Amino acid sequence: MTPNQAKKLYIETVGCQMNVLDSELVVGSLRRQGYVLTSEETDADVILFNTCSVRQHAEDKIYSALGRLRRHKRSHPETLIGVLGCMAQKDQELIRRRAPHVDIVCGTGQLARLPELIDEVRRTGKPTMALSLDRTESRHEVEASFESYDPLRDPSMRPSPFQASVRIMIGCDKFCTYCIVPSVRGPEQSRPPAHIAAEVRQLAAEGCKEITLLGQTVNSYKHQAGDGRQYRLGDLLALIHDTQGIERIKFITNFPRDMSDDLLDAVRDLPRVSKYLHVPAQSGCNDVLRRMKRLYTVEFYRDMLARSRDKVPGVAISSDFIVGFPGESEESFQRTCDLVRDAGFKNSYIFKYSPRPGTKGHEMFADDIPEEVKRRRNNDLLAVQNQRSQEDNRRFQGQRVRVLVEGPSKTALKSDSPGPRQLTGRSCTDHIVVFDGNERRTGRMIEVDIEETSALTLFGRVVTEERIGGDVAAASVRESRVSLPVVI
Ligand code: SAH
Ligand code: SF4
Ligand code: F3S
Repeated sequence: MTPNQAKKLYIETVGCQMNVLDSELVVGSLRRQGYVLTSEETDADVILFNTCSVRQHAEDKIYSALGRLRRHKRSHPETLIGVLGCMAQKDQELIRRRAPHVDIVCGTGQLARLPELIDEVRRTGKPTMALSLDRTESRHEVEASFESYDPLRDPSMRPSPFQASVRIMIGCDKFCTYCIVPSVRGPEQSRPPAHIAAEVRQLAAEGCKEITLLGQTVNSYKHQAGDGRQYRLGDLLALIHDTQGIERIKFITNFPRDMSDDLLDAVRDLPRVSKYLHVPAQSGCNDVLRRMKRLYTVEFYRDMLARSRDKVPGVAISSDFIVGFPGESEESFQRTCDLVRDAGFKNSYIFKYSPRPGTKGHEMFADDIPEEVKRRRNNDLLAVQNQRSQEDNRRFQGQRVRVLVEGPSKTALKSDSPGPRQLTGRSCTDHIVVFDGNERRTGRMIEVDIEETSALTLFGRVVTEERIGGDVAAASVRESRVSLPVVI
């Protein structure tokens, strides 16, 4: 590489929105060092994998990508390969053994050091690593080793210029028995409200209209401010609600036990807060919930749903489920199906149990449900959910919904035919809405009359468009129909 040539960076990200945000921040910091992004890994000077350990499958994907690069590294020894994030934090030795051609292993909480680590490897020619402390040290030291460097963001790196995620807390203290997150993301720590509000103001000033607040258990947010006042999530929503330019605020993911009345009141009363709650139930069987150490019963969860619907009329609720958890009998599984049938979730993300070494569940329970049973339960539960979503979505037929336009639909992106494009956006209940329109509407709030519905999508036509910066585009009156793939 000549000194005048920009250095090229390739980055691949798996995992949750926390990881997507981390990658955004890593790319931002490396761009400041002169890197440009490339979509070809073999063309890059630095290849990074931001990893996830929540299920075995996520780890396998990374090892096979690293395997593919072995030969490339041999013929291009100057290319640096880095493994970042949750799997790096958990398995530094294993990564070294299975992929000795990896130059950098950088755990969660240490990502701000990445530019320095790259320089170090270039200088010394030796591999290096940076990891946060594991949870066996003192709480204070462990907390200090999990740093977040969120304010350092580069606006051009956001997935869209008008949408951004803002982390309000890091880590998790719940220790559900199946889950690796508390050991790879460290202790639960809430960021000060003033920092969050400043970040939201900065994002709004850069043209951002939709903010998604992130936390593993976002509704457990708790911060004692300097004036002695305790801020919970509801207070934080109120604090950022009137930020000039912000049109919509969402938050994920909620823990069922922490769905307080205050928070539900805030969701009801603050008009820019989406009427949408993602509150994973994980199972509909008390016996399984107890072994998962979820700290609630199905009855509690059902009450929480009723309370949420009572307080926030029309609220949409979605969930996560794990099927094939150790000891899940056919009867236990049927209880989960009953919950999905009764609950009216907007959608559910369904996962097959994946034993995670390092969790209590792995120590305590044998992974005794055969793979084909897990697969069948996964499909069966998905079918129950889809049937329910299809029925529930019919209530939108003939309704007018406010949509923040996100851009061309996936089908439209593939086609290059002229004329109105199929656009997609989300309603204030987070439903996907598809309609014909001009791409100039991207980033605007519009109204759409819903004409048809499916389990996952509402289809309609644009009726009005509000003036939120820029011109008002002409209304399109064509009917649209497209189905989007399910993300699980
Ligand atoms: N903090 C969030 C979710 C974190 S992980 C919460 O508490 O809800 C996202 C989802 O992955 C979980 O909700 C759970 O359904 C699933 N998951 C976590 N560990 C898993 C495992 N070992 N096997 C299968 N699914 C798992
Ligand atoms: Fe994992 Fe449970 Fe924490 Fe969610 S609440 S991140 S499932 S330990
Ligand atoms: Fe995966 Fe880490 Fe998120 S384990 S789900 S990327 S917190």
